[in-house]
Amino acid sequence: MRIAAGRGNYSPFRLGEMASSVFLTSLWLMNDTALVDPFGRRIEYVRVSVTDRCDLRCFYCMPRGFRDFEEPEHWLSFDEIERVMAAFARLGTRRIRLTGGEPLVRQNLPDLAARLSALPGVEDISLSTNATRLAKSAEALYAGGVRRINVSLDSLKPEVFRDITAGKLEKVLAGLMAAKQAGFRPIKINMVVMGGVNDDEVGDMVDFCLEHGFTLRFIETMPMGETGREAAGHFVDLRRVKERLADRFELIPGMMPGGGPARYVRVAGTDLHIGFITPISQHFCETCNRVRLSVDGTIYTCLGNEHKLELRPRLRAGCSESDLEAAILEAIALKPERHEFRERPEKVVRFMSMTGG
Ligand code: 5AD
Ligand code: SF4
Repeated sequence: MRIAAGRGNYSPFRLGEMASSVFLTSLWLMNDTALVDPFGRRIEYVRVSVTDRCDLRCFYCMPRGFRDFEEPEHWLSFDEIERVMAAFARLGTRRIRLTGGEPLVRQNLPDLAARLSALPGVEDISLSTNATRLAKSAEALYAGGVRRINVSLDSLKPEVFRDITAGKLEKVLAGLMAAKQAGFRPIKINMVVMGGVNDDEVGDMVDFCLEHGFTLRFIETMPMGETGREAAGHFVDLRRVKERLADRFELIPGMMPGGGPARYVRVAGTDLHIGFITPISQHFCETCNRVRLSVDGTIYTCLGNEHKLELRPRLRAGCSESDLEAAILEAIALKPERHEFRERPEKVVRFMSMTGG
């Protein structure tokens, strides 16, 4: 933690600032991190959405004709993102994931990755992408310090992929192969399993991931925004998917480093890990370790709630570093105990693309 020292100006304001910094330092010393929420969860992970735009239109995420995007002047600049993430890192954040919308539609993303991976305290930079543009930037991202990649891929059939996303499967496959070539490990495939849409492809996806050495994660549809609630009609309980897979493969309960919400199994005799992300059938809020920063500089403290704090006005009003740290702590204190996707599916009005899953 940097204390506002060496500026030679001990006005009452500066002394207040120093006192709050000392307070933060003692919190930090007690916990390794000052970022502990009211339910005792350590927030060591921030998902940074660098754009709410996307070149696909997955029907469960964004409406097809949707154009109501954030104004560019409201986007945090790379300087602002770096400043916010440096403050998070001083307070104890160790891991950052770049996400969107589709993060690669933001120009020069590898430059941002390089800046964030150089921040003191940051140990891990990862990326969630739809991979349509990954073939072009895989190497630059790797050079920028990104090591782990998650790719959304719901179908291996070009027509089904097009029906779900309005995009082209071949671009995504090219992106995935480029990522493999560039050396990212692990590469995780995220498949939202939907009844009557792609649930017949679960076995094919296992074979695909076995062939390429990818990790596979199945996700239950979440009622995020109107689109997500419509898709909830295709909800599949992943416990049933696991039972079906267990008929074909021997599944060994396992772990994957990274501490995410997925519960993993390993397929016996292989290195394939399969994760199940079950926000609806078995929620995992008690181990949640993350908050989200949206492109307009809002900290969202929960995927399933609107509890948030807007940093942009403070950043643009010239707040000090300790004001920024205090604002981050204020946000963490707002983190609710759990989502209520099941009890109150109507609750979340924003689309997934605003905070990137
Ligand atoms: N329910 C479940 N998953 C969703 N995603 C986007 N919208 C939803 C939803 N309503 C997934 C994407 C991507 C990840 C970031 O979130 O497919 O894999
Ligand atoms: Fe784009 Fe991801 Fe939303 Fe699909 S789920 S439309 S790829 S942001």
